[in-house]
Amino acid sequence: MLRTNLNLGAERQMSRLHPYSDKVMDHFTNPRNMGEIADADAVADVGNPACGDMMRLYIKVEDGKIVDVKFKTFGCGAAIAASSMLTEIVKGKTIAEAEKITNRQVIDALGGLPPVKHHCSVMAEEALANAIKDYRLKHQGSGS
Ligand code: FES
Repeated sequence: MLRTNLNLGAERQMSRLHPYSDKVMDHFTNPRNMGEIADADAVADVGNPACGDMMRLYIKVEDGKIVDVKFKTFGCGAAIAASSMLTEIVKGKTIAEAEKITNRQVIDALGGLPPVKHHCSVMAEEALANAIKDYRLKHQGSGS
């Protein structure tokens, strides 16, 4: 009983120490759509020069719709959570819909990020924009 109370106390202390929402913690510890797509229609690499973190995004497009999306992120927990949430938002969207997605939407869907971590979600927005640019270059005139 004493041990349980001590553990509960430690957990409360931890949650006071970290400013992350349950959603951020969920996507950080259990990222969705992590990996690569061997036959991707477009791939984008982005990096954050301030911290050296990197993200690669793959998209698979059919009939103008993003039917699959995967990511690999070498970065902080917020960047991994933002990458994961981005893929959930993007999947099933048309190219035209996907290119309107912003990092603000990703932050909101995560239940917020500390202001000092907002830049981590910008990497996800840039990766998506670059992947769409790559897709358009390779498939001129399609999917828009
Ligand atoms: S600290 Fe580099 S992306 Fe978060």
